[in-house]
Amino acid sequence: MKETNPKRYTVTSALPYANGALHLGHLAGAYLPADIYVRYMRLMGKDILWVCGSDEHGAAITIRSKKEGVSPQEIIDKYHNLNKDTFEKLGISFDFYHRTSEQIHHETAQEIFLKLLEKGDQFDEKVTEQYYDEKFQQFLADRYIIGTCPKCGFEEAFGDQCEQCGSDLSPLELVNPRSTMSGEKPTLKETKHWFFKLDSHEKWLKEWVKEGTIDGKFHHNPKTWKNHVIGQCMSWLDTGLMPRSITRDLDWGIKVPVEGAEGKVLYVWFDAPIGYISATKQWALDNGKKWKDYWQSDDTQLIHFIGKDNIVFHCIVFPAMLKAHGDYNLPINVPANQFLNFEGRKFSKSRGWGIEQHVYLEKFKDFPNKEDALRYALTKIMPENKDSDFTWDEFIAAHDNELVANFGNFVNRVVVLTNKYFDGAIPSLDSVDWSEKHKEVLDLIKKYQKEIETFHFRNAANVLMEISSYGNTYLQDVSPWSIFKTDPEDPLIAESMFVANQIVALLAMVSKPFLPFTSDKLQGILNLNPVQNGDLATAIEKLGNNQPIIKGGHQIGKPTLLFAKIHDRKDSSRLELINAQRAELEAILAAEVPKHESVKAQTSFDDFTKMDMRTGTIVKAEKMKKAKKLLQLEVDLGFETRTIVSGIAEYFSPEDVIGQQVVVLCNLAPRKLRGVESNGMILMAENEKGELAFVNAKDGFGNGFVVR
Ligand code: 2FM
Ligand code: ZN
Repeated sequence: MKETNPKRYTVTSALPYANGALHLGHLAGAYLPADIYVRYMRLMGKDILWVCGSDEHGAAITIRSKKEGVSPQEIIDKYHNLNKDTFEKLGISFDFYHRTSEQIHHETAQEIFLKLLEKGDQFDEKVTEQYYDEKFQQFLADRYIIGTCPKCGFEEAFGDQCEQCGSDLSPLELVNPRSTMSGEKPTLKETKHWFFKLDSHEKWLKEWVKEGTIDGKFHHNPKTWKNHVIGQCMSWLDTGLMPRSITRDLDWGIKVPVEGAEGKVLYVWFDAPIGYISATKQWALDNGKKWKDYWQSDDTQLIHFIGKDNIVFHCIVFPAMLKAHGDYNLPINVPANQFLNFEGRKFSKSRGWGIEQHVYLEKFKDFPNKEDALRYALTKIMPENKDSDFTWDEFIAAHDNELVANFGNFVNRVVVLTNKYFDGAIPSLDSVDWSEKHKEVLDLIKKYQKEIETFHFRNAANVLMEISSYGNTYLQDVSPWSIFKTDPEDPLIAESMFVANQIVALLAMVSKPFLPFTSDKLQGILNLNPVQNGDLATAIEKLGNNQPIIKGGHQIGKPTLLFAKIHDRKDSSRLELINAQRAELEAILAAEVPKHESVKAQTSFDDFTKMDMRTGTIVKAEKMKKAKKLLQLEVDLGFETRTIVSGIAEYFSPEDVIGQQVVVLCNLAPRKLRGVESNGMILMAENEKGELAFVNAKDGFGNGFVVR
């Protein structure tokens, strides 16, 4: 694989499930960053194909359809259309938005399945016992079975994991299992499945992820990958890969193309990434291209944009499938984003927390340039390397301080002054040497390019603002309006307008990936056609040769406002709109009545005194590997120091709890959590939001004293 200057690029964004609307977190995670990247590459004249589409299979869609009594087709049609349409409205410029229910996709996925099957060494067939819901006549996916956790006794544990103690479970371990569909006890039934032998790919995957080589041959530079992506992959690889079942007993999905596999379909995560390939096939058919050029040529680079929850599938499972097949390229990078929160909390549809993309567009329908306002605010806080938070405060700040006060202001001043002094005609300045300005702007553009090419879109947005700041400062330094008062014929006025218009013309280009609607409007104001593919490459060349971007004599149009300030004394409507959003959130918080658990059944004094609770102090704390919720603690109990594993890691970091005084239930039977023996339990209070607080005696009380 070539490191630089490939002939073409194939870019994918995670195929969203067609069973729900997408929210701002999805947009900031896998679609907006890809859009910025792809639009930029187009401006640089690259041959780049960006595909996406709806992920229309899977147990979630099947089960929803059974529960609601509507066909899966109705569900996927509704959300496919909604999501596709909303993306378009937000300027998300996929080259092709496909859907996995299409025939061409079914055929492609089946072909790849059969090819791997023919290899003979990629799949195992195994018969296992699985839970079955008799009422719904359906085998149950792990998540659709709940029951009592055998480790901690929590009664609502899922078939794959207990949310209370963090243990990984298999559905067969649950005590008293129930189907989430019928609520009834499921029965066990034998069934045959195909397992992809992922473990046999572990060795090369390790080398590929860590070194970027395959059998010692260069594939990509791992330094260009994000740390958190490599970290997550290595943690999977170090834990050891297991064969994965790639078929399911469902009546909705892609039929397993083998005799005797009636009633079985391919697992949704087997077919979904193949959706990128089938989308390319359909696009190629429609556009007279060869799809293989985009997937199987040495001269093509493949990049997957996704959220962090999809890392394992795009960096381990799908690459293993592609390598097993033998003809396909592996991704050169997977610049996954982390998660976006909304005003301090996770997005939650059921609680009404957060905004869906299409709802934003409806609510903000009268907000000028709402699409770019949102795109810009989200770019500024994109969760590139860690989780981040959307707040209305920052939305307003990004809009008013940057888009209005910097970008919009510069453009407006230049257009107004050009009209005022030169009737809108760019002054001709063949004799002026402005090569120094050329160079400074070019340096900024190079910085902008580097940030985008390395997937640092937040930084790139800042450089975009630096370019317009540069223009503002230049204009301020020259102050043509002051010169005009004393000598309207001073050639510096013409020079400044010439230079400033060049910067505006450049801004119209470099803003396109971030603010596509603004870029088009700006080109309109400049009386130019919308920015075309390759234009930025041409402009950079011109700058390098000291040639103007927009020629002297060109007639520009009249100023129109690109953005309207939110904090505007004359018009409070935009601030009111945002305040209404804030009020909705406050109402949700206010309605959250504290949930008081009902009092448990009586216990005897004797039983109570059996519990030995003591005061103690946490003296050491560390995170546990592969267990998001657990901290491993050393607790000084006066008479001894104990190891206790506690499920508090989501609320407290190790640094927070060292030195914390606690109360410990000391005579709880020891139990192993993630291979570590825990000796006791730390008492915590939990409120309605699930927030935790330590229960303890007063400061300096001392360790080892009995609580009764
Ligand atoms: O997590 C999801 O929303 C999946 N539908 C993503 C699939 S990405 C790809 F593999 F298609
Ligand atoms: Zn448990």
